[in-house]
Amino acid sequence: MAAAAVDRTARAPAGFTVIGLIFGPPGSGKGTQAARVEKEFGMSHLSTGEILRSEVAHGSAVGKEAARIMAAGDLVPDDLIDRIVESRLSRIDPTSNVLLDGFPRTTEQAKALDAMLAPRQVDFVVSLDVPEAALIDRLLHRAAVEGRADDTRDAIMERMHEYHHRTASVLDHYREQGVPVLEVDGVGDVDVVFDRVRQAIKKLAASKPRARGI
Ligand code: AP5
Repeated sequence: MAAAAVDRTARAPAGFTVIGLIFGPPGSGKGTQAARVEKEFGMSHLSTGEILRSEVAHGSAVGKEAARIMAAGDLVPDDLIDRIVESRLSRIDPTSNVLLDGFPRTTEQAKALDAMLAPRQVDFVVSLDVPEAALIDRLLHRAAVEGRADDTRDAIMERMHEYHHRTASVLDHYREQGVPVLEVDGVGDVDVVFDRVRQAIKKLAASKPRARGI
């Protein structure tokens, strides 16, 4: 649903010092790298996937609505996610740095985030690049070890489909706005990938005044 559905009375996120996004296809390492970025740069990490899994585990109304959709590998409705993110942002100290993981995932969500943040913008996007065969291997491996509900082969293929058809174009949205998109090779040891992410963010912070809060 469009940004008009978002309740703007409950938020004041425009004060955040730096707002970054970690972006990439399923299994690209968003959550793994976000945990390291959070620690290294003192950012508050907000993962929509983790929030939804917690809602499912607690059997909340949101969890009941999302569980079947997530298990099938589809995206939950934009208006539901937009409301969750806006509510969570309103609870974060507005002097914090924020790292969003898994959101926005559609152009409509990106427009909703623009409206939540106006008049400011997202400061940077870290985009992790991993070939699809490696993504599928990682997720099937996790399925064997952890048994996440959406790591079945069918759900993984649907998540890849959703990424290509609805999510990848979010990068164009930010490029068109002039937001720096930091493309990082996500293949290799987790620490090696993190070193690439760290260097990319540090280089940006050195060159862009708005990202110097990190
Ligand atoms: P979400 O939780 O965001 O899942 P995802 O995008 O499918 O991503 P993953 O969590 O599987 O992977 P990741 O990129 O975070 O990588 P990770 O670090 O975990 O969303 C789940 C679902 O929620 C969606 O499908 C949708 O239904 C719903 N949803 C969430 N946000 C939404 C939104 N905004 N709109 C609508 N619906 C939404 O790593 C993956 C595995 O690889 C791990 O086992 C890890 O140990 C391993 N690994 C990580 N890095 C490496 C490395 N360098 N080398 C080898 N293995 C690695």
